[in-house]
Amino acid sequence: MKEAFEAVRVTEKVYWVGAIDWNIRDFHGYSTHRGTTYNAYLVLADRVTLVDTVKAPFREELIARISSVIDPGKIDYIVSNHSEMDHSGCLPEMIDMIKPEKVFASTMGVKALADHFHDGLDVTEVKDGDRIDLGDMAITVLETRMLHWPDSMVSYLEEEKLLFSQDGFGMHLASSERFDDELPFPLLEHEARKYYANILLPFSRQVLKVLDRLAEAKLELDIVAPDHGPVWRKNQGRILELYRGWAEQRRGKKAVVAYDTMWGSTEKMAKAIADGLASGGASVKVMKLRAAHRSDIATEVLDAGALVVGSPTINNNIFPTIADILFYLKGLKPVGLIGAAFGSYGWSGEAAGQVEELLEGMKVEIAGEAPRVKYVPDKEMLENCRNLGRAIADKLRG
Ligand code: FEO
Repeated sequence: MKEAFEAVRVTEKVYWVGAIDWNIRDFHGYSTHRGTTYNAYLVLADRVTLVDTVKAPFREELIARISSVIDPGKIDYIVSNHSEMDHSGCLPEMIDMIKPEKVFASTMGVKALADHFHDGLDVTEVKDGDRIDLGDMAITVLETRMLHWPDSMVSYLEEEKLLFSQDGFGMHLASSERFDDELPFPLLEHEARKYYANILLPFSRQVLKVLDRLAEAKLELDIVAPDHGPVWRKNQGRILELYRGWAEQRRGKKAVVAYDTMWGSTEKMAKAIADGLASGGASVKVMKLRAAHRSDIATEVLDAGALVVGSPTINNNIFPTIADILFYLKGLKPVGLIGAAFGSYGWSGEAAGQVEELLEGMKVEIAGEAPRVKYVPDKEMLENCRNLGRAIADKLRG
C-alpha cells in the first residue's frame, strides 16, 4: 500500500519532499534528542530537478512525497549537494527508479559518491560558479569545501531567490512544522547552535569565507533551505548573523565546569570552583559527564570563555567519561579558551595533570594551578577551589 505522505510547497515551483525521523536519538555520537529531518527538494522547472535525497530507510517517504506532486519518472536531474549518507543513502536506488538524464555533484562529490557506492554511478561534475540550466530556471552552484565535507556545495535558485544550503544553517529537529516562522525562535537558535558547535565549529574559517562570499555576491535570500530542520523564510538574516558570531568564536563571561566523580570529592571541588566563578560575575554551567551529553557540553562551550575540567584518578588515569569529552572537544578545535584542571585521587593522583596536558593540547590557556586532593577535600581545599574559580572569573572580566 502506498504511504500517505505529501510534499509541502516552499515556493510556487519548489516543494519539500524530505523525511521526518522522529525517533533518532544518536547521530554518530551527537545526541539528537528532538529527532531530525532529512530534507530533499523538488524543483518544478522545465527540467524537473530533485535536490538531494534522504537516508536510505526513508526512501519510501521521499518517493511518496514526490509522487504527491509529480510522477518521479518525470525528474530530469538530481543535484547532490552533499554525499554524506543521510542525504545520499538512497541515491543509487533513486537513480535506478527515476533514470534521470543527469546527476550533478561537485568534483569531490563525484569521487565521494564513487567511494561510497562502488557501482559506477554516472555523475556529472559541476564546479564553483557553474550554472545548471533548467530551462525556465537555473541553479548556480557554490562550492563550500569542508563545510563540512570536502564535497560540500550549495545551490542557488535565482528565480526563487532560494539557497539550498545542505547541512549549513540546519539543525536536528523533527517537527510537523516545515518553516522557521512556525516554531519558537529560541528553540531554533538553540538547535542551530548545537548543530554548529558539534558539526561546523572545526571549519569556522571556511564558514566566514562562505558568509563573506554570500555577502559579496549580494545574493537575495528569500528562502534558505537546509538539509535538516525547518526551512528559513523569515529569520534567514538572523541565522546568517548568528553563524558569523559562532564562526568568530565570540566568547562571553561564561564558564563550563565539566567533571565526573566517583565518591563525590571531585564534585565538591567542581561546585566550589563554580561558586567562585559565579562570585566573580561569570555565568557558570556545571556539567557532570554522566548527567550531560558530550554534544550538550560542546554546545555550552561554543560561547564560553573558560573550560574547567575535573577528573578523579582511576587506575593511574583520567576517568573514561573525561577522556571522551576532552578528545571530542579537541576534535572540534575551539579557540580562545582559558581553563584549568582539578581532581581527587586515592593513591597516585595523575588525573588532574593529565587533564591539564590535554587542555594545553587544545591550546586552552591555563589560568591557575590544578587543585588536587587526596580522598576528600577539606575546608581549606574547597577554599582553594573557590579561589581558582574567582581568579578565572577575574580573567574573563579582564
Ligand atoms: Fe547531514 Fe553532513 O550530513
